[in-house]
Amino acid sequence: MDYKTAKIKIQELTDQLNDHNYRYYIQAKPVVSDYDFDMLLEELTRLEKEFPELALPDSPTKRVGGEITKEFKQVRHVYPMLSLSNTYSEEEIREFDNRIKKTIENPVEYICELKYDGVSISLTYINGSLVRAVTRGDGVQGDDVTTNVKTIKSIPLKLRGDYPEEFEIRGEIFIPKSEFLKLNAERVENGEEPFANPRNSAAGSIKMQDSAEVAKRPLDCLLYFLLGNDLPFSNHYDNLMKAKEWGFSVPIYIAKCRNIEDIMSFIHEWDKGRESLPFEIDGVVIKVNDDAQQEELGFTAKSPRWAIAYKFKAERVSTRLNRITYQVGRTGAITPVANLEPVQLAGTIVKRATLHNADVIETLGVREGDMVFVEKGGEIIPKIIGVDETMRDVNSKKLKFIEICPECRTKLVRNEGEAAWYCPNEEGCPPQIKGRIEHFISRNAMNIDSLGEGKVEMLFDNGLIKDPSDLYYLSFDQLLGLEKVFEATDEKKEKKLSFKEKTVTNILNGIEASKEIPFDRVLYAVGIRFVGQTVARKLAVHYRNIEALKWVTFENLILVDEIGEKIAGSVLQFFSREKNLAIIERLKNKGVQFELKHVSEPLSDKLKGKTIVASGKLERYSREEIKEVIERHGGKAASSVSSKTDFLLAGENIGPNKLEKARELKVPIITEAEFLKMIE
Ligand code: IVH
Repeated sequence: MDYKTAKIKIQELTDQLNDHNYRYYIQAKPVVSDYDFDMLLEELTRLEKEFPELALPDSPTKRVGGEITKEFKQVRHVYPMLSLSNTYSEEEIREFDNRIKKTIENPVEYICELKYDGVSISLTYINGSLVRAVTRGDGVQGDDVTTNVKTIKSIPLKLRGDYPEEFEIRGEIFIPKSEFLKLNAERVENGEEPFANPRNSAAGSIKMQDSAEVAKRPLDCLLYFLLGNDLPFSNHYDNLMKAKEWGFSVPIYIAKCRNIEDIMSFIHEWDKGRESLPFEIDGVVIKVNDDAQQEELGFTAKSPRWAIAYKFKAERVSTRLNRITYQVGRTGAITPVANLEPVQLAGTIVKRATLHNADVIETLGVREGDMVFVEKGGEIIPKIIGVDETMRDVNSKKLKFIEICPECRTKLVRNEGEAAWYCPNEEGCPPQIKGRIEHFISRNAMNIDSLGEGKVEMLFDNGLIKDPSDLYYLSFDQLLGLEKVFEATDEKKEKKLSFKEKTVTNILNGIEASKEIPFDRVLYAVGIRFVGQTVARKLAVHYRNIEALKWVTFENLILVDEIGEKIAGSVLQFFSREKNLAIIERLKNKGVQFELKHVSEPLSDKLKGKTIVASGKLERYSREEIKEVIERHGGKAASSVSSKTDFLLAGENIGPNKLEKARELKVPIITEAEFLKMIE
């Protein structure tokens, strides 16, 4: 591609991808599939590699990171980042309102917002592009973490609409609760220290040196404050709502309040309701809305007089730790669990709390029989925060972490530098085997939803499955009539499962249907350590089929985008095991997909050298299929019209932009019938 065309193409792809990002992360209304998005991103990455000087600063390729920062540059804030005065007392909120009413004559409108519990960040935009992201630091100067922040998908790299030429917007970077739980579980499985809470995990993530690692952290950001000389409105609320139009993720949990009673009900509503939020909050922030009134009220040395934070109290109780039990995960990692005397805490009954690993037990110095303090704020998981040693029984003994697996009696191992102990008996330890099969059938993997945890257990207990491939060899007669009673536990009631005709048919149909699941998800399903969905997709797209992957070398693997030494090592280890190769062979024999369909056998070379963009709804082919057909006839399927496009294949409801572009560049527009003639 020549320089001029590349320049146009890079701009076009950058805009297109930023637009898709906005639709996905801000509007939650994507218009392309993940696959199509990845293909566009790959095209842009390729072009930027070829023409590095043409890469734009707001390129979405920055979102995958890759730059290493040894030391963050210190940047002075244009407007100091002040903190908020805060209180735990409702009375002080009333006093705040009275103080304001004394200074301001006109009626005051307050904006109540949630106080997000993360890491504050200040973003500077010039001409609509994100140019700088700086942490709070000491309020006067902070760390320049721009490269890391660019990996956060909900932060726009390029704004839309009528934004001011230059302004700052501030907000909070955080990790949603569900993602935090997943992240911690992964860390424990990998033998790393779990994060104490989502706030710490966000703070740690944003300061990592390798932005590619930051990109893997599920960070999100909500914006709550604008600063600048030519903001569109002279009040906080309207500016914030406008920022939403520019592409920022602005919280919906916000209320205009005219009096103290409205403020109090907002506080009470969220003190109760915070458990149901997808992220953590630690209070409510109350701000005077009008800019002129804010100015009149001014600042103290540390905080504005026009705002205050009401902080929720974390609830804490003490209860007895009856026993410590140990759970074995899918990868064999051992997690100690504190079984507590049931206790009411922040609206729920707490019976258990995770102790994460041996180091956590050591640090807390906790023993069986101890009275412990359990705390739960807005946090998702109750935490044991300490031991009441004054209540300790004189005969109590220091806890000794188990040395053999509680499930299969194998001697546990601990890798150098890792916090977790592992059961190494991968092939014979029941929870590890069941865990792998449960992972295999899970929604994002093979999606066999006619099976579930209980049914997997039943099949395993009856000796019918020992690995995922066994599922495809089950027969109707083997399943019919199986029965099992699951005893009641603290969490679940007694349950009886029995396989009648309908259940068996459903199970077998579900297994059969999973043979259509594409290769990238199969690769995720087989459970290679450290290979999550994204990495599996990368590997599948790069190597196209399992044969190529089986024989791959370490040197070759680490050349693939996003594949580091840890993943490469794990992939090689997986394929070096006879057992895994045998499972793959058995799955393959039953028709499970082990290659990406797009590289199926060629049909002709009728489209050789032709680049075709297909868009709109076609009668004969789906989006994926048309790409495959073009490729199998020797052509190249592209997603956006450019001067390199030979034909635009226009389906029903094709977007006007593509048509216009094709006309402008004089690219021939063909119908589906004409296309079929070409490949006849
Ligand atoms: S406004 C000058 N609004 O709380 C006031 N801050 O203790 C600017 N925070 O540093 C801050 N949620 O990190 C504001 N809705 C919200 C907030 C919020 C969380 C954090 C922020 C700030 C700290 C103050």
